[in-house]
Amino acid sequence: MYTEIIKIIEGGMRREPAKVVQFAKKLADIFDEEGNARLAKGIRKVIDSGASNTLTMEQLTTTAPVDSETRMSIVDIFNPSENDFTIILPEIIERKVMDFIKIVENKDKIKSLGLPMQSSLLLYGIPGVGKTTIAKYISIQTKLPLVTARLDALISSLLGNTSKNIRKIFEYADSKPCILFLDEFDAIAKARDDEHEMGELKRVINSLLQNIDIFSQNNILIAATNHPELLDKAIWRRFNTVIEVSQLGADGVRKLIELYAENYKHDFSSDKKMDRIVYLLSKKTPADIKTIVTNAITQAVIQEKEEINVEDLLIENFQFEKHGNFTADELIKYLNDNGIPKLQIADILNVSIRQIRNNLKD
Ligand SMILES: Nc1ncnc2c1ncn2[C@@H]1O[C@H](COP(=O)(O)OP(=O)(O)OP(=O)(O)O)[C@@H](O)[C@H]1O
Ligand SMILES: [Mg+2]
Repeated sequence: MYTEIIKIIEGGMRREPAKVVQFAKKLADIFDEEGNARLAKGIRKVIDSGASNTLTMEQLTTTAPVDSETRMSIVDIFNPSENDFTIILPEIIERKVMDFIKIVENKDKIKSLGLPMQSSLLLYGIPGVGKTTIAKYISIQTKLPLVTARLDALISSLLGNTSKNIRKIFEYADSKPCILFLDEFDAIAKARDDEHEMGELKRVINSLLQNIDIFSQNNILIAATNHPELLDKAIWRRFNTVIEVSQLGADGVRKLIELYAENYKHDFSSDKKMDRIVYLLSKKTPADIKTIVTNAITQAVIQEKEEINVEDLLIENFQFEKHGNFTADELIKYLNDNGIPKLQIADILNVSIRQIRNNLKD
């Protein structure tokens, strides 16, 4: 048994998955013989899930489509087995996302019953609200790699290979078990409605739209946009699931703050302080909240402060809103307006209390 363990470690260190699998199987056999069926089963389960994923990822990356002139990759590939994260969603959205995942997972069953099977999802919402994060989450849950194509970059590129590249991406995603994620999907509508755009590109876009139906019968398609107003009826009806990714409510904001601050000591665990911060950040997107909380932590680290507190978040929030462009007077007023005692403001900004009083008097 020790030989097998050493061989598995060797295989891992040298990045030889075949060797890892070979000796892990032997190890499972040994456990079986010793009457430890549970452990053997556990090992085989890990082998099975790992084998299918590594193969897919390898296949995916080596054959990923490239632009024929620049040889640059025209898709990004997200590997679900190497990623994991917590997502926080409003209940309604979470339910819709889970339903979509279930459709994907039960695809074969649905098809075998002769029911029409389509898995296409359109996510829309303002920047930073979590559209890409949801696509990645679905990838992790279904264990299917996420192949992302940014349509705005493809369409606006001056390469002139747009139509060829779009076709390549579809053909590629069609031949592999994966999720095709078309980000900045409104670029499609923009290009189609562009009066100056003639010929080839329009034809490709129209055929792309028609192909969505066929594609999503066998494959999984997710599209995302910040500009739903640009999409017309013909586009909307191609998607059997549509989700407006809206802002988190107070509950979600609270969970998100807890999530991003969980690895650093902070003084706002109490309901009262937390309520203040939730109120402060309630209009912000998850991306903004992440930036504000992680900036506060980064500042604490570089200033060798062991704890972050409400004032730190207030300061980071103010910086964020003002894009870093404000005077000391404005910051003093902001902290004062948000209930921070003058003495504390003086302490934070390292100035005298008299100066703070004078500032506020002005
Ligand atoms: N619901 C969420 N739960 C946890 N983290 C989130 C959530 N939504 C967004 N985030 C965080 O915010 C960041 C930005 O989110 P994301 O890229 O998904 O936004 P988006 O809607 O795709 O924005 P854009 O329109 O600019 O592409 C991510 O790094 C992610 O970590
Ligand atoms: Mg995005």
